[in-house]
Amino acid sequence: MIIAPSLLAADFGRLAKETERVNRSGADWLHLDIMDGHFVPNISFGPAVVQRIRPLTRLFFDVHLMCSKPEILLEPFAKAGANQMNIHVELGDHVTPLMWKIKSLGKKVGLAINPPTAISAVEPYLKEIDSLLIMTVHPGFGGQSFIYETLPKVQQAREWRDHRHLHYHIGVDGGVDFKTAADCAHAGADAFISGTTLFHKRNLAAAVKRMRKIVEEQQTVLTTDGLR
Ligand code: DX5
Ligand code: ZN
Repeated sequence: MIIAPSLLAADFGRLAKETERVNRSGADWLHLDIMDGHFVPNISFGPAVVQRIRPLTRLFFDVHLMCSKPEILLEPFAKAGANQMNIHVELGDHVTPLMWKIKSLGKKVGLAINPPTAISAVEPYLKEIDSLLIMTVHPGFGGQSFIYETLPKVQQAREWRDHRHLHYHIGVDGGVDFKTAADCAHAGADAFISGTTLFHKRNLAAAVKRMRKIVEEQQTVLTTDGLR
């Protein structure tokens, strides 16, 4: 089970301190939301920021590119210290070359899917990816409410993974709080990206621990019930 605080919800006036806070929190990944003002109606931060915080932690950097032209950003983010780069399946014909480019840079490949896009869109790529990022809100902003209609996608992704003996992570991103994290874990998710719920707590470590316990409990329920 991967707990990944999303830096988008951090205090941007103190990014170094916030990164150190995540570093001490017991989290597994640091999720980095990159928005270009075109693929989504918001702008966040770029490779220079990632490069600046890279020396502060050994955490796995999970870069989420909500960008229309990720091809111009893959190398800069690879150099800045990304460990995994997620591109969106909505980019259509560009997806395959982008995935190969990420691999050639020696980084892990993530594929993200927006709420309105059918899960069948990711099926052709499942063998090639390290992680599937199921958006549980419309990307662009933190602090939105979880869209429950996206949960069947998590179930489908889990079914495909189990039946085909594949190994990709199943991540959920957007509106993930202690309740919705449990629902996602129950549906088969194993990576929990959470901004507001984790960062806005004074004690981030306690919040990470609590989320981990909640999702692990769901996992235990599933195995002891023999549902999987
Ligand atoms: C949404 C981003 C998410 C966001 C999640 O566009 O991709 O990663 O930071 O934030 P919360 O947990 O606040 O919904
Ligand atoms: Zn994200």
